Amino acid sequence: MKILHVVGARPNFIKVAPVMRALTRHASQILIHTGQHYDANMSDVFFEQLELPTADVNLGVGSGTHAQQTAEVMVRFEPVVKECKPDLVVVYGDVNSTLATALVCSKLSLPVAHVEAGLRSHDRTMPEEINRILSDQISDWLFTPSADADSNLIREGIAAEKIHRVGNVMIDTLVRVLRQTAEIEHAELPDPYALLTLHRPSNVDDVGFLFHLLSVLRQSGIPIIFPVHPRTRKTIASFARELANDNFLLRDPLSYVEFLALQRQATVVITDSGGIQEETTFLNIPCLTIRENTERPITVSRGTNVLVGRDLVRLQNEISAVLNGHWKQAQAVPLWDGHAAERIARVLVGRTLAASA
Ligand code: UD1
Repeated sequence: MKILHVVGARPNFIKVAPVMRALTRHASQILIHTGQHYDANMSDVFFEQLELPTADVNLGVGSGTHAQQTAEVMVRFEPVVKECKPDLVVVYGDVNSTLATALVCSKLSLPVAHVEAGLRSHDRTMPEEINRILSDQISDWLFTPSADADSNLIREGIAAEKIHRVGNVMIDTLVRVLRQTAEIEHAELPDPYALLTLHRPSNVDDVGFLFHLLSVLRQSGIPIIFPVHPRTRKTIASFARELANDNFLLRDPLSYVEFLALQRQATVVITDSGGIQEETTFLNIPCLTIRENTERPITVSRGTNVLVGRDLVRLQNEISAVLNGHWKQAQAVPLWDGHAAERIARVLVGRTLAASA
């Protein structure tokens, strides 16, 4: 069996690693990088730390508007996938590269498996929500992390036999790499500290809101370690120096292991990322999410996640509560156990055995 995996952006790299590992003995594998993320600290360092093979092809798409990026991935991916002739293509998450390549495959009648299917924020202004809905509609295997995702898919008319609840591959990587964080755990860090990440256009493209948000965080007084996404760096360029003079410790984007080490020891994590909501729940670290909704509601119902939206008074209050020791402890989430990728491999390998019988 020949399986082709497509990745494009930082969170994809974390998800593909355990799936490729689990399929090693069962399939010949090809890895295509669309080049959506291209900086060394947004891409190469993840390949090294996660022990991913160098991509067989890098489409070198780079940045652009959504239409440019999506279209460019499609145009560059089509001849590559035709040449490779895989038996099946695996796509990950909800980034533009995910939808673009799933769409190309569906037009070529190539079977597609979507890892991290079924998540819904029910907010169609988020580009990722459109990517999720459409990718799921055209995929043949939908690997979901939690029961809410199954229900979303059923509600959207996806046949039950296509849905496989396998758990969370991001947690597979976290479990595997956690031990390595010990090496940098004793580095000098303030105590307590907050770890901050922001990259959603709705938060970081609006300079007024971002300035206000960072002012509130400054007033909290707690040291804030802030690895800055390239998109956010552009917005804060005019006041970055002031921040660095305050309680902000500005950093370039961090590697996976460094970031995990910081999450693990943080007093509180403040974020608008999707994956970090899951990681903090697994690590049982309080998480305040600067979004009105989440496609990962299980992190709120069972985990440490609190959606503070754009309510900055609430944010202040929640930070004070955490600093005073008041926050909800996480319960374990079923199937977030480090073995999701093995379950995916079993389904895919079983399918080829059945097809060749
Ligand atoms: C993308 C995903 C988002 C995911 C995030 C993880 C979509 C629609 N969004 O958002 O779901 O959570 O990745 O980081 O696919 N840039 C660089 N160097 C890079 C990559 C990006 O400088 O290596 C800059 C570019 O100026 C670019 C901007 O960051 O325009 C945004 O990059 P893009 O890939 O469009 O989206 P992200 O915001 O990273």
